Amino acid sequence: MLKINLKTEQKAYPVYLGRGMIDKIGSVISEYLPACSMLVISDRNVSPYYGNRCLESLRRAGFKPSLEVLAGGEKDKSLTAASVLYTRALQEGLDRHSAIVALGGGVTGDLAGFVAATYLRGVPFVQVPTTLLAMVDSSIGGKVAVNHPLGKNLIGAFYQPELVVSDLDTLNTLPIREFNAGLAELIKYGVIWDKKLFERLESFSKKASSRGLFLDVDNPWLLKCIARAVLIKGKIVCRDEREKNLRRILNFGHTYGHALEAASGYTYYLHGEAVACGMVMAARLAVLLKILDQASELRIRDLLTQLKPPPPLQGLKRDTIVEALYFDKKKESGELNFVLPTTLGRVEMYQAPPSRFVEQVIEEYQRGELL
Ligand SMILES: NC(=O)c1ccc[n+]([C@@H]2O[C@H](COP(=O)([O-])OP(=O)(O)OC[C@H]3O[C@@H](n4cnc5c(N)ncnc54)[C@H](O)[C@@H]3O)[C@@H](O)[C@H]2O)c1
Repeated sequence: MLKINLKTEQKAYPVYLGRGMIDKIGSVISEYLPACSMLVISDRNVSPYYGNRCLESLRRAGFKPSLEVLAGGEKDKSLTAASVLYTRALQEGLDRHSAIVALGGGVTGDLAGFVAATYLRGVPFVQVPTTLLAMVDSSIGGKVAVNHPLGKNLIGAFYQPELVVSDLDTLNTLPIREFNAGLAELIKYGVIWDKKLFERLESFSKKASSRGLFLDVDNPWLLKCIARAVLIKGKIVCRDEREKNLRRILNFGHTYGHALEAASGYTYYLHGEAVACGMVMAARLAVLLKILDQASELRIRDLLTQLKPPPPLQGLKRDTIVEALYFDKKKESGELNFVLPTTLGRVEMYQAPPSRFVEQVIEEYQRGELL
């Protein structure tokens, strides 16, 4: 088991990474929270595997947990779902000393975190991520949110958990497509911060496992790569908790990625897949702008292609993607901002690149020339 200590302006907290953690989660959490009532929030896919095991472990450690299982998926990351959870928390008599536990992927973590931040003006909160994406990204750094009909993650807060407990064994039940979406986020850290991590992932990609994954759950390197990602995100969040500057580099791949997700109605791509496509597109834009060499672009593209993101959606109009791109812009001081790689392991913010390049990349993507 590994323990990584993170520190932000708001709070210092540990991230535990290991195997078999679900069955000892109660004793791990009891080091940080007194015996109290807890609402464990999970979804329909995760709860059948880990819900009861988590509850039993919490009870053994003296906690009084109850479990609320939601349908899951982006639709459930809503104020309506939050309201269901407030009601359940009130019915269970949760007070300011009680805690909320998020057992699931990024959707559960973002929603449960939002409820924890707002219920009784804030109660302690524990992240137990069960997707690779949540382990390397969403459970770290305290961004919690729900969606609004007009856009994703528009209602939220910065609210750090008391601790994060990641059990890599839970990844055994994660569908391969979801696992690959998480690998895309791992690759992101390699491109934005850590060339060595990128090269390590590149070396794995040369020898795919029996399941066709280049970094499978039973690979001992997976723990090290997740730990590296947690450390990198921790460092970034520590320097810029509220995303005023540095933290924005974590949005590499998100400008195009969000546009693809929004233009396709959030049903075609998984979030990590859209980000994977967005990273390939951003690298291509960086080459057109002459800030990245083509050899590095091809390495980024090759590695992300191994994750087999879905092909461009047939019938999706170029203009719909462009519109979605500029809709996002409105939320950010009117400029179209991109995080673009300048070499492997380094990115910079690029404001208002010429629209002919931005749109050329979309056209190339749609013609299937990039992925
Ligand atoms: N807060 C942040 O900083 C941050 C960062 C990145 C992404 N996000 C958010 O995270 C969300 C995406 O997260 P995600 O990809 O984890 O999605 P998710 O929570 O929807 O999980 C993906 C799917 O896998 C299932 N699942 C989860 N764990 C499983 C397991 N161990 N075994 C079997 N099935 C399992 C879920 O039920 C779901 O169907 C998005 O809403 C995105 O906005 C937040």
